[in-house]
Amino acid sequence: MESNNDLAAELKKVTRELASYKIELHQTRGYLHCILQNSRDMIFATDVTGIVVSFSKGAEKILGYSLAEVIGRPITDFAEDPSAFEQVMNSCQTDGCAVTLDFHFRHKDGSRVHCHASLMSLTNREGGVVGTVGVCTDITQWKKLQDDLVQVDRLAEIGRIAAGVAHEMNNPLAVISEASGWAREVVTDAAGLADVDRKELLDTLEKIDAQTRRCRHITHRLLDFTRDSAPAKQALDIHELLRGTVELLRPELKHSPVKVEFGFSDDPLMVRSDPRLLEQVFVNVVTNAVHAVLESGKPDGQIAIRTARYDSGVQVDIEDNGGGIPKENQDKMFKLFFTTKPPGKGTGLGLPICRNLMEKLGGEITFETEPGQGTTFTLWIPGD
Ligand SMILES: Nc1ncnc2c1ncn2[C@@H]1O[C@H](COP(=O)(O)OP(=O)(O)O)[C@@H](O)[C@H]1O
Ligand SMILES: [Mg+2]
Repeated sequence: MESNNDLAAELKKVTRELASYKIELHQTRGYLHCILQNSRDMIFATDVTGIVVSFSKGAEKILGYSLAEVIGRPITDFAEDPSAFEQVMNSCQTDGCAVTLDFHFRHKDGSRVHCHASLMSLTNREGGVVGTVGVCTDITQWKKLQDDLVQVDRLAEIGRIAAGVAHEMNNPLAVISEASGWAREVVTDAAGLADVDRKELLDTLEKIDAQTRRCRHITHRLLDFTRDSAPAKQALDIHELLRGTVELLRPELKHSPVKVEFGFSDDPLMVRSDPRLLEQVFVNVVTNAVHAVLESGKPDGQIAIRTARYDSGVQVDIEDNGGGIPKENQDKMFKLFFTTKPPGKGTGLGLPICRNLMEKLGGEITFETEPGQGTTFTLWIPGD
C-alpha cells in the first residue's frame, strides 16, 4: 500500500517535470524560431557532413537562395572558395568553434558577399559532434565603404602630389615659352638666313610654343582639379563641347583607323554646367574608347557619340566597337589605379576622376559592355 502511494507520488512528480520541460521546450523553440525568422544575419545549421539542415530568413536575403534551394546541399557550395570553407568547418569540429573575419560567399546572382563568420559545433548529450551552426554577418557594404575611404585618401594624396608637380612645372614652362618667343624674334630678324631655313625654324618654334601651351593648359587643369573648387556653372552647348573635345584629340586620331561619328544635329543642346570639368570627362572617355578600338585590332574601328534630352538633363552616349570589358574587370572600372594598359600608357586614373567630376556636377557616369563587341559609356548631365 505504502509503495503504491510512493509510486503514485513519483509518477505525479515526473508528470509535472515533464509538463515543465514541455513548456521549456516550447519556449526554446519559439525563441529559436524568432531568431531564425528575424535576425538579419545568415544563420545556418549543417549535419556532421556539412549538409544544410536549417537556413534562416536572413540567410535567404544575404545569399539570394530560398530555404528549399539550399536544404540538402553542402554549405560549402555557397562559399567562394569551398575548400577554404571546408577547412574552417573542420577546424570548428576539432576546436568547438571557429571565427573568420572576412569570408567570401557567392550570392545567387554571382556577386561576392563579404561575411564575418562564426561557426560553432553542435554536440549531443555524449559530447559527440553532430553538426555545425554558423552565424554570418554581411559586411559587404561596410567593406565597400572602407575601400572607398582608402581610395578617397589615396586620391587626396595624389591631389597633393599633383598640385606640387603642376606648380613646379609652371616655372620651367614659362621660361621655355619666353625663350621660344625670343628665338622667334631672332630668327625673324636674322639676316643671311635662307627663306626655307627660316620657315623651318619658325615652324619648329611654333611647335615648341604650341606644346608648351598645351603643357600649361594641363598643369592648370590639374591645379584646378586638386583645388577642389566648386564647379563654375554656365550656359553651354553640349554639342559644341563634344565637337571641341574630338578636335582636341584630332592629332591622336589622325594616324589611327578609328572613325568618330556624331549622332546628333547641328542645333545647340544647352545645359548649365562647368565646361572645363565636362571637357575633362569627355576627353577621358573618348580617349579610352579610342584605345579600346585600337587594342581590339578591328579594321573598322568606330566611335559613335549620341546625345538626347533625358529627365531634366542631357544624356551623352559614347559607344565604341572595341573589345569590350571582360566580366571579371567590370566592377573594377572606377577603382583608382585599375588599368589593363602597359606602364606609360595607362594610369588607371581616368575613370575614377571622371566619376569624381560627374558627382561634383550632380551627374552620373555608367557603362554597358558586351565582351568582344564593344562598350557604351553613358553620361547624364543635369540641366542646371
Ligand atoms: N571603352 C572601353 N572599352 C574597354 N575597356 C575600357 C574602356 N574604357 C576603359 N576601359 C578599361 O578600364 C581601364 C581603366 O580606365 P581608366 O581609368 O581610364 O585608366 P587607363 O585608361 O589609364 O587605363 C582601362 O585600362 C581599360 O581596361
Ligand atoms: Mg583612360
